[in-house]
Amino acid sequence: MDTKNLYINTIGCQMNVYDSEQIAKALIPLNYRAAPSLEDADLVIVNTCSIREKAEQKAFSFLGRLSRLKRKKPGLIIGVGGCVAQQEGKKIVKRMPHIDIVFGTHAIGRLPLHIKNIELKRYRIVDIEMSEKIDEFGHIDGFQQNKNVTSFVTIMQGCENFCTYCVVPYVRGIEISRNPENIIKEIRHLVDSGVREVTLLGQNVNSYGKKEKHCSFPELLARVNEIDGLARIRFTTSHPKDLSEDLMHAFKDMDKLCRHIHLPVQSGSNRVLKKMNRKYTGELYLEKVERLRNFCPEIAITSDIIVGFPGETDADFVETLDLIEKVGFDGLFAFMYSDRPKVPATAFPDKVSKREKKERLQTLLDFQDRFAIKKNVELLGKNESVLVEGFSKKYSKNADRSMPENIQWTGRTSTNKSVNFVRRKGSVLKNYTGKMVDIKIEKVLAHSLLGKQC
Ligand code: 5AD
Ligand code: SF4
Repeated sequence: MDTKNLYINTIGCQMNVYDSEQIAKALIPLNYRAAPSLEDADLVIVNTCSIREKAEQKAFSFLGRLSRLKRKKPGLIIGVGGCVAQQEGKKIVKRMPHIDIVFGTHAIGRLPLHIKNIELKRYRIVDIEMSEKIDEFGHIDGFQQNKNVTSFVTIMQGCENFCTYCVVPYVRGIEISRNPENIIKEIRHLVDSGVREVTLLGQNVNSYGKKEKHCSFPELLARVNEIDGLARIRFTTSHPKDLSEDLMHAFKDMDKLCRHIHLPVQSGSNRVLKKMNRKYTGELYLEKVERLRNFCPEIAITSDIIVGFPGETDADFVETLDLIEKVGFDGLFAFMYSDRPKVPATAFPDKVSKREKKERLQTLLDFQDRFAIKKNVELLGKNESVLVEGFSKKYSKNADRSMPENIQWTGRTSTNKSVNFVRRKGSVLKNYTGKMVDIKIEKVLAHSLLGKQC
Protein backbone atom coordinates (compact mmCIF):
# COMPACT_ATOMS: atom_id res chain seq x y z
CA MET A 1 0.00 0.00 0.00
CA ASP A 2 1.31 3.48 -0.89
CA THR A 3 1.95 5.84 1.98
CA LYS A 4 -0.25 8.93 2.21
CA ASN A 5 0.74 12.38 3.44
CA LEU A 6 -0.61 13.77 6.70
CA TYR A 7 -0.23 17.45 7.61
CA ILE A 8 -1.19 18.51 11.13
CA ASN A 9 -1.47 22.16 12.15
CA THR A 10 -1.45 22.37 15.95
CA ILE A 11 -2.75 25.52 17.61
CA GLY A 12 -2.76 26.08 21.37
CA CYS A 13 -1.42 24.46 24.48
CA GLN A 14 0.93 21.56 25.24
CA MET A 15 -2.04 19.25 25.58
CA ASN A 16 -2.85 19.87 21.93
CA VAL A 17 0.78 19.16 21.00
CA TYR A 18 0.49 15.83 22.81
CA ASP A 19 -2.91 15.11 21.18
CA SER A 20 -1.46 15.82 17.73
CA GLU A 21 1.24 13.23 18.40
CA GLN A 22 -1.52 10.77 19.34
CA ILE A 23 -3.38 11.62 16.13
CA ALA A 24 -0.28 11.04 13.99
CA LYS A 25 0.30 7.74 15.78
CA ALA A 26 -3.33 6.63 15.43
CA LEU A 27 -3.17 7.18 11.66
CA ILE A 28 0.01 5.15 11.05
CA PRO A 29 -1.96 1.89 10.50
CA LEU A 30 -3.85 3.69 7.72
CA ASN A 31 -0.46 4.42 6.15
CA TYR A 32 -0.36 8.14 6.85
CA ARG A 33 3.10 9.66 7.35
CA ALA A 34 4.21 13.27 7.93
CA ALA A 35 3.79 15.36 4.76
CA PRO A 36 6.83 17.33 3.57
CA SER A 37 4.58 20.39 3.09
CA LEU A 38 0.93 21.42 3.24
CA GLU A 39 0.66 21.29 -0.57
CA ASP A 40 1.69 17.61 -0.55
CA ALA A 41 -0.95 16.58 1.99
CA ASP A 42 -3.64 13.97 1.34
CA LEU A 43 -5.09 14.61 4.78
CA VAL A 44 -4.93 17.90 6.70
CA ILE A 45 -5.84 17.97 10.38
CA VAL A 46 -6.23 21.26 12.21
CA ASN A 47 -5.98 20.72 15.95
CA THR A 48 -7.69 23.79 17.35
CA CYS A 49 -7.72 25.83 20.55
CA SER A 50 -10.59 27.93 21.87
CA ILE A 51 -9.14 29.25 25.14
CA ARG A 52 -9.13 32.82 23.80
CA GLU A 53 -10.90 34.47 20.89
CA LYS A 54 -7.61 35.03 19.06
CA ALA A 55 -6.74 31.32 18.99
CA GLU A 56 -10.17 30.49 17.61
CA GLN A 57 -9.84 33.15 14.89
CA LYS A 58 -6.45 31.71 13.96
CA ALA A 59 -8.05 28.28 13.46
CA PHE A 60 -10.89 29.63 11.32
CA SER A 61 -8.59 31.73 9.20
CA PHE A 62 -6.35 28.70 8.46
CA LEU A 63 -9.41 26.54 7.74
CA GLY A 64 -10.76 29.23 5.39
CA ARG A 65 -7.51 29.24 3.42
CA LEU A 66 -7.72 25.47 2.96
CA SER A 67 -10.73 25.80 0.65
CA ARG A 68 -8.43 26.93 -2.18
CA LEU A 69 -6.22 23.86 -1.67
CA LYS A 70 -9.29 21.62 -1.75
CA ARG A 71 -10.40 23.16 -5.06
CA LYS A 72 -7.02 22.36 -6.56
CA LYS A 73 -7.01 18.89 -5.02
CA PRO A 74 -10.58 17.58 -4.61
CA GLY A 75 -9.41 14.27 -3.08
CA LEU A 76 -7.92 16.10 -0.11
CA ILE A 77 -9.48 15.19 3.26
CA ILE A 78 -9.71 18.00 5.81
CA GLY A 79 -10.37 17.39 9.50
CA VAL A 80 -10.91 19.75 12.42
CA GLY A 81 -10.12 18.48 15.90
CA GLY A 82 -9.55 19.90 19.37
CA CYS A 83 -11.42 22.46 21.43
CA VAL A 84 -13.05 24.55 18.65
CA ALA A 85 -14.29 21.31 17.08
CA GLN A 86 -15.77 20.22 20.41
CA GLN A 87 -17.36 23.63 20.94
CA GLU A 88 -18.76 24.31 17.47
CA GLY A 89 -19.45 20.76 16.19
CA LYS A 90 -21.96 20.71 13.32
CA LYS A 91 -21.75 24.47 12.83
CA ILE A 92 -18.30 24.00 11.29
CA VAL A 93 -19.45 21.61 8.55
CA LYS A 94 -22.43 23.87 7.84
CA ARG A 95 -20.26 26.96 7.59
CA MET A 96 -17.39 25.32 5.67
CA PRO A 97 -18.37 22.90 2.90
CA HIS A 98 -14.75 21.88 2.32
CA ILE A 99 -14.43 20.28 5.78
CA ASP A 100 -14.86 16.48 5.80
CA ILE A 101 -14.69 15.70 9.49
CA VAL A 102 -15.10 17.48 12.80
CA PHE A 103 -13.87 15.44 15.76
CA GLY A 104 -13.91 16.53 19.40
CA THR A 105 -11.40 16.19 22.20
CA HIS A 106 -12.60 12.68 23.14
CA ALA A 107 -12.79 11.28 19.61
CA ILE A 108 -9.12 10.74 18.70
CA GLY A 109 -9.43 6.98 19.27
CA ARG A 110 -12.27 6.80 16.73
CA LEU A 111 -10.49 8.98 14.17
CA PRO A 112 -8.85 6.16 12.14
CA LEU A 113 -12.22 4.48 11.56
CA HIS A 114 -13.79 7.79 10.54
CA ILE A 115 -10.96 8.56 8.10
CA LYS A 116 -11.23 5.08 6.60
CA ASN A 117 -14.95 5.60 6.05
CA ILE A 118 -14.35 8.97 4.44
CA GLU A 119 -11.69 7.48 2.14
CA LEU A 120 -14.12 4.76 1.03
CA LYS A 121 -17.47 6.51 1.01
CA ARG A 122 -16.66 10.24 0.98
CA TYR A 123 -19.31 11.31 3.45
CA ARG A 124 -18.98 13.99 6.11
CA ILE A 125 -18.70 13.19 9.80
CA VAL A 126 -19.19 15.09 13.06
CA ASP A 127 -18.12 13.21 16.20
CA ILE A 128 -18.11 15.32 19.34
CA GLU A 129 -19.26 12.63 21.75
CA MET A 130 -17.67 12.92 25.17
CA SER A 131 -16.96 10.06 27.50
CA GLU A 132 -16.40 9.55 31.20
CA LYS A 133 -13.55 7.14 30.62
CA ILE A 134 -10.07 7.96 29.45
CA ASP A 135 -9.23 6.65 26.03
CA GLU A 136 -5.99 4.69 26.32
CA PHE A 137 -5.99 3.74 22.63
CA GLY A 138 -2.58 4.91 21.56
CA HIS A 139 -1.02 5.88 24.83
CA ILE A 140 0.26 2.38 25.36
CA ASP A 141 0.41 0.37 22.16
CA GLY A 142 2.29 1.19 19.02
CA PHE A 143 4.22 4.14 20.42
CA GLN A 144 5.67 6.54 17.97
CA GLN A 145 9.42 6.99 18.20
CA ASN A 146 9.97 10.35 19.81
CA LYS A 147 13.09 11.94 18.37
CA ASN A 148 13.16 14.85 20.79
CA VAL A 149 15.01 15.17 24.06
CA THR A 150 11.82 16.33 25.80
CA SER A 151 8.29 15.00 25.60
CA PHE A 152 4.83 15.73 26.97
CA VAL A 153 2.80 13.04 28.69
CA THR A 154 -0.85 13.65 29.49
CA ILE A 155 -1.72 12.23 32.91
CA MET A 156 -5.29 13.47 33.11
CA GLN A 157 -7.91 15.19 31.01
CA GLY A 158 -10.66 17.71 31.66
CA CYS A 159 -11.26 20.17 34.47
CA GLU A 160 -14.00 20.70 37.03
CA ASN A 161 -12.96 24.02 38.50
CA PHE A 162 -15.25 26.14 36.35
CA CYS A 163 -13.38 29.41 36.54
CA THR A 164 -15.96 31.83 35.17
CA TYR A 165 -13.88 32.91 32.13
CA CYS A 166 -12.72 29.47 31.00
CA VAL A 167 -14.01 27.11 28.30
CA VAL A 168 -11.88 24.14 29.31
CA PRO A 169 -14.49 22.35 31.46
CA TYR A 170 -16.93 22.60 28.53
CA VAL A 171 -14.59 21.53 25.75
CA ARG A 172 -12.40 19.01 27.60
CA GLY A 173 -15.06 17.55 29.89
CA ILE A 174 -14.92 16.23 33.43
CA GLU A 175 -11.66 15.42 35.16
CA ILE A 176 -10.41 11.92 34.44
CA SER A 177 -6.99 10.58 35.44
CA ARG A 178 -5.01 7.94 33.62
CA ASN A 179 -3.93 4.80 35.39
CA PRO A 180 -0.41 5.28 36.87
CA GLU A 181 0.80 1.93 35.42
CA ASN A 182 0.03 3.15 31.90
CA ILE A 183 1.74 6.48 32.51
CA ILE A 184 4.90 4.78 33.81
CA LYS A 185 4.88 2.36 30.88
CA GLU A 186 4.59 5.22 28.41
CA ILE A 187 7.43 7.19 30.03
CA ARG A 188 9.67 4.08 30.08
CA HIS A 189 9.06 3.68 26.38
CA LEU A 190 9.85 7.34 25.71
CA VAL A 191 13.10 7.03 27.67
CA ASP A 192 14.02 3.91 25.65
CA SER A 193 13.58 5.96 22.48
CA GLY A 194 15.90 8.74 23.70
CA VAL A 195 13.72 11.15 25.69
CA ARG A 196 15.49 12.60 28.76
CA GLU A 197 12.83 14.93 30.13
CA VAL A 198 9.07 14.56 30.45
CA THR A 199 6.45 17.19 31.23
CA LEU A 200 3.39 15.68 32.88
CA LEU A 201 0.26 17.43 31.65
CA GLY A 202 -3.11 18.06 33.24
CA GLN A 203 -5.35 21.11 33.69
CA ASN A 204 -5.03 20.69 37.44
CA VAL A 205 -2.42 18.07 38.28
CA ASN A 206 -2.97 18.51 42.03
CA SER A 207 -6.22 16.59 41.78
CA TYR A 208 -4.60 13.70 39.86
CA GLY A 209 -6.02 10.32 40.81
CA LYS A 210 -8.36 11.57 43.55
CA LYS A 211 -11.60 10.53 41.93
CA GLU A 212 -10.33 7.18 40.67
CA LYS A 213 -8.46 6.50 43.94
CA HIS A 214 -5.22 5.96 42.04
CA CYS A 215 -2.15 7.25 43.84
CA SER A 216 -1.78 10.97 44.62
CA PHE A 217 0.13 13.32 42.31
CA PRO A 218 3.22 13.49 44.59
CA GLU A 219 3.15 9.66 44.73
CA LEU A 220 3.01 9.52 40.93
CA LEU A 221 5.97 11.92 40.78
CA ALA A 222 7.91 9.65 43.14
CA ARG A 223 7.30 6.70 40.80
CA VAL A 224 8.36 8.67 37.74
CA ASN A 225 11.45 9.85 39.64
CA GLU A 226 12.53 6.18 39.89
CA ILE A 227 12.62 5.62 36.13
CA ASP A 228 16.19 4.81 35.05
CA GLY A 229 17.57 6.93 32.22
CA LEU A 230 15.09 9.75 32.77
CA ALA A 231 16.97 12.93 33.72
CA ARG A 232 14.23 15.46 34.41
CA ILE A 233 10.56 15.77 35.29
CA ARG A 234 8.38 18.84 34.85
CA PHE A 235 4.64 19.25 35.21
CA THR A 236 1.91 21.74 34.42
CA THR A 237 -0.55 23.10 35.52
CA SER A 238 -1.04 23.42 39.22
CA HIS A 239 -4.03 25.28 40.70
CA PRO A 240 -2.92 27.47 43.63
CA LYS A 241 -5.89 26.47 45.78
CA ASP A 242 -4.83 22.79 45.68
CA LEU A 243 -1.06 23.18 45.98
CA SER A 244 -0.32 20.80 48.86
CA GLU A 245 2.54 20.52 51.36
CA ASP A 246 3.28 17.07 49.89
CA LEU A 247 3.91 18.62 46.50
CA MET A 248 6.07 21.33 48.07
CA HIS A 249 8.10 18.53 49.72
CA ALA A 250 8.58 16.90 46.32
CA PHE A 251 10.57 19.95 45.14
CA LYS A 252 12.94 19.44 48.02
CA ASP A 253 13.18 15.65 47.93
CA MET A 254 13.04 14.51 44.31
CA ASP A 255 16.30 14.87 42.44
CA LYS A 256 14.75 14.70 38.97
CA LEU A 257 11.92 17.15 39.59
CA CYS A 258 12.88 20.49 38.03
CA ARG A 259 12.92 23.51 40.31
CA HIS A 260 10.11 25.32 38.53
CA ILE A 261 6.39 25.65 39.10
CA HIS A 262 3.80 27.28 36.87
CA LEU A 263 1.21 28.60 39.30
CA PRO A 264 -1.41 30.73 37.51
CA VAL A 265 -2.64 33.53 39.78
CA GLN A 266 -4.82 35.32 37.17
CA SER A 267 -5.29 38.48 39.28
CA GLY A 268 -4.03 40.15 42.44
CA SER A 269 -7.41 41.62 43.37
CA ASN A 270 -9.55 39.58 45.76
CA ARG A 271 -12.69 41.12 44.27
CA VAL A 272 -11.72 39.93 40.79
CA LEU A 273 -10.49 36.53 42.03
CA LYS A 274 -13.90 35.99 43.62
CA LYS A 275 -15.70 36.87 40.40
CA MET A 276 -13.35 34.52 38.55
CA ASN A 277 -14.31 31.72 41.00
CA ARG A 278 -10.66 31.00 41.75
CA LYS A 279 -11.32 30.05 45.40
CA TYR A 280 -8.23 31.71 46.87
CA THR A 281 -7.19 35.23 47.82
CA GLY A 282 -4.06 37.15 46.95
CA GLU A 283 -2.94 36.70 50.56
CA LEU A 284 -3.33 32.90 50.39
CA TYR A 285 -1.38 32.84 47.12
CA LEU A 286 1.47 34.82 48.69
CA GLU A 287 1.44 32.52 51.71
CA LYS A 288 1.78 29.46 49.47
CA VAL A 289 4.61 31.08 47.52
CA GLU A 290 6.43 31.78 50.79
CA ARG A 291 6.00 28.20 52.00
CA LEU A 292 7.12 26.85 48.65
CA ARG A 293 10.27 28.98 48.83
CA ASN A 294 10.92 27.73 52.36
CA PHE A 295 10.97 24.18 51.00
CA CYS A 296 12.97 25.07 47.90
CA PRO A 297 14.57 28.54 47.91
CA GLU A 298 15.85 28.32 44.33
CA ILE A 299 12.45 27.44 42.81
CA ALA A 300 11.42 29.51 39.77
CA ILE A 301 7.79 30.59 39.76
CA THR A 302 5.89 31.56 36.62
CA SER A 303 2.24 32.50 36.25
CA ASP A 304 -0.69 33.44 34.02
CA ILE A 305 -2.54 36.72 34.38
CA ILE A 306 -5.71 37.96 32.74
CA VAL A 307 -6.04 41.73 32.35
CA GLY A 308 -9.37 43.46 31.82
CA PHE A 309 -11.66 40.85 33.36
CA PRO A 310 -15.24 42.29 33.40
CA GLY A 311 -15.49 44.90 36.14
CA GLU A 312 -11.70 45.14 36.68
CA THR A 313 -10.96 48.72 37.82
CA ASP A 314 -7.68 50.60 37.78
CA ALA A 315 -7.44 49.90 41.52
CA ASP A 316 -7.85 46.13 40.89
CA PHE A 317 -5.15 46.28 38.25
CA VAL A 318 -2.79 48.08 40.64
CA GLU A 319 -3.37 45.23 43.13
CA THR A 320 -2.24 42.80 40.42
CA LEU A 321 0.95 44.83 39.87
CA ASP A 322 1.42 44.83 43.62
CA LEU A 323 1.21 41.06 43.79
CA ILE A 324 3.64 40.73 40.88
CA GLU A 325 6.11 42.88 42.78
CA LYS A 326 5.66 40.92 46.00
CA VAL A 327 6.16 37.51 44.34
CA GLY A 328 8.91 38.47 41.89
CA PHE A 329 7.91 36.01 39.16
CA ASP A 330 10.54 34.47 36.92
CA GLY A 331 8.17 34.76 33.98
CA LEU A 332 4.58 35.70 33.19
CA PHE A 333 2.07 34.89 30.47
CA ALA A 334 -0.40 37.74 30.36
CA PHE A 335 -3.61 37.80 28.34
CA MET A 336 -6.35 40.28 27.58
CA TYR A 337 -9.68 38.89 28.77
CA SER A 338 -11.91 37.68 25.93
CA ASP A 339 -15.53 36.47 26.02
CA ARG A 340 -15.94 32.77 25.32
CA PRO A 341 -19.08 30.83 24.41
CA LYS A 342 -21.12 29.36 27.31
CA VAL A 343 -18.89 30.67 30.11
CA PRO A 344 -20.52 32.81 32.85
CA ALA A 345 -18.15 35.80 32.53
CA THR A 346 -19.44 36.46 29.01
CA ALA A 347 -22.69 37.65 30.62
CA PHE A 348 -20.94 39.75 33.29
CA PRO A 349 -21.50 43.52 33.12
CA ASP A 350 -18.87 46.30 32.99
CA LYS A 351 -16.72 44.98 30.19
CA VAL A 352 -13.33 46.67 29.94
CA SER A 353 -12.62 48.39 26.63
CA LYS A 354 -10.09 46.94 24.19
CA ARG A 355 -7.97 50.08 24.50
CA GLU A 356 -7.81 49.78 28.28
CA LYS A 357 -7.02 46.08 28.09
CA LYS A 358 -4.16 46.80 25.68
CA GLU A 359 -2.78 49.53 27.92
CA ARG A 360 -2.93 47.35 31.02
CA LEU A 361 -1.26 44.47 29.19
CA GLN A 362 1.63 46.66 28.05
CA THR A 363 2.06 48.20 31.51
CA LEU A 364 2.11 44.75 33.05
CA LEU A 365 4.62 43.33 30.56
CA ASP A 366 6.98 46.30 31.00
CA PHE A 367 6.65 46.00 34.77
CA GLN A 368 7.40 42.27 34.67
CA ASP A 369 10.46 42.66 32.40
CA ARG A 370 12.26 44.47 35.23
CA PHE A 371 11.82 41.46 37.52
CA ALA A 372 12.71 38.91 34.86
CA ILE A 373 15.99 40.71 34.14
CA LYS A 374 16.72 41.07 37.85
CA LYS A 375 16.18 37.32 38.33
CA ASN A 376 18.43 36.51 35.41
CA VAL A 377 21.17 38.90 36.58
CA GLU A 378 21.36 36.85 39.79
CA LEU A 379 22.67 34.00 37.62
CA LEU A 380 25.59 35.98 36.09
CA GLY A 381 28.89 34.21 36.67
CA LYS A 382 27.16 31.13 38.12
CA ASN A 383 27.38 27.58 36.80
CA GLU A 384 24.09 26.05 35.71
CA SER A 385 23.33 22.49 34.71
CA VAL A 386 21.64 22.55 31.31
CA LEU A 387 19.85 19.76 29.44
CA VAL A 388 20.75 20.36 25.80
CA GLU A 389 17.84 20.23 23.32
CA GLY A 390 19.78 20.96 20.09
CA PHE A 391 21.19 23.86 18.05
CA SER A 392 20.11 27.36 19.05
CA LYS A 393 17.64 29.15 16.74
CA LYS A 394 20.29 31.68 15.72
CA TYR A 395 22.72 28.92 14.78
CA SER A 396 20.07 26.97 12.86
CA LYS A 397 19.50 30.07 10.71
CA ASN A 398 23.12 31.15 10.05
CA ALA A 399 24.78 27.78 10.22
CA ASP A 400 28.40 27.45 9.28
CA ARG A 401 28.75 23.83 10.18
CA SER A 402 32.43 23.65 9.23
CA MET A 403 33.35 25.50 12.45
CA PRO A 404 32.34 23.37 15.44
CA GLU A 405 33.67 26.05 17.86
CA ASN A 406 31.00 28.43 16.61
CA ILE A 407 28.09 26.08 17.00
CA GLN A 408 25.63 27.57 19.41
CA TRP A 409 23.63 25.00 21.38
CA THR A 410 20.50 25.55 23.38
CA GLY A 411 19.01 24.00 26.48
CA ARG A 412 17.23 24.77 29.71
CA THR A 413 18.17 25.07 33.33
CA SER A 414 16.21 23.16 35.95
CA THR A 415 14.44 26.49 36.60
CA ASN A 416 13.27 26.46 32.95
CA LYS A 417 15.47 29.29 31.74
CA SER A 418 16.65 29.08 28.18
CA VAL A 419 20.46 29.07 27.81
CA ASN A 420 22.42 29.37 24.57
CA PHE A 421 26.06 28.37 24.79
CA VAL A 422 29.21 27.46 22.87
CA ARG A 423 31.30 24.40 23.65
CA ARG A 424 34.53 24.47 25.59
CA LYS A 425 37.57 24.75 23.28
CA GLY A 426 39.06 21.34 22.72
CA SER A 427 35.98 19.51 24.00
CA VAL A 428 35.84 16.01 22.50
CA LEU A 429 32.06 15.95 22.61
CA LYS A 430 30.61 16.59 19.13
CA ASN A 431 26.90 16.20 19.66
CA TYR A 432 25.51 17.78 22.81
CA THR A 433 21.86 16.97 22.17
CA GLY A 434 20.38 15.13 25.14
CA LYS A 435 23.46 15.72 27.31
CA MET A 436 23.47 17.44 30.67
CA VAL A 437 26.22 20.09 30.56
CA ASP A 438 27.51 22.63 33.09
CA ILE A 439 27.42 26.14 31.66
CA LYS A 440 28.90 29.33 33.08
CA ILE A 441 26.41 32.16 32.53
CA GLU A 442 28.19 35.12 30.92
CA LYS A 443 25.44 37.33 29.55
CA VAL A 444 21.86 38.04 30.48
CA LEU A 445 18.98 38.99 28.18
CA ALA A 446 15.34 39.51 29.22
CA HIS A 447 14.20 36.08 28.05
CA SER A 448 17.39 34.06 27.69
CA LEU A 449 20.91 33.57 28.94
CA LEU A 450 24.24 33.19 27.14
CA GLY A 451 27.10 31.09 28.45
CA LYS A 452 30.13 28.90 27.89
CA GLN A 453 30.66 25.26 28.71
CA CYS A 454 32.59 25.00 32.00
N1 5AD B 1 -9.67 35.31 28.23
C1 5AD B 1 -8.35 35.55 28.41
N2 5AD B 1 -7.50 34.66 28.92
C2 5AD B 1 -7.99 33.45 29.27
N3 5AD B 1 -7.40 32.36 29.80
C3 5AD B 1 -8.33 31.40 29.95
N4 5AD B 1 -9.53 31.84 29.53
C4 5AD B 1 -9.35 33.13 29.11
C5 5AD B 1 -10.21 34.11 28.57
N5 5AD B 1 -11.52 33.90 28.39
C6 5AD B 1 -5.97 32.31 30.16
C7 5AD B 1 -5.77 32.03 31.66
C8 5AD B 1 -5.28 30.61 31.66
C9 5AD B 1 -4.51 30.56 30.36
C10 5AD B 1 -4.23 29.19 29.85
O1 5AD B 1 -5.35 31.25 29.46
O2 5AD B 1 -4.78 32.90 32.14
O3 5AD B 1 -4.46 30.31 32.78
FE1 SF4 C 1 -9.81 26.73 33.10
FE2 SF4 C 1 -9.86 27.23 35.73
FE3 SF4 C 1 -9.83 24.69 34.83
FE4 SF4 C 1 -7.63 26.21 34.58
S1 SF4 C 1 -8.58 25.56 36.52
S2 SF4 C 1 -8.56 24.88 33.01
S3 SF4 C 1 -8.50 28.24 34.19
S4 SF4 C 1 -11.48 26.18 34.54
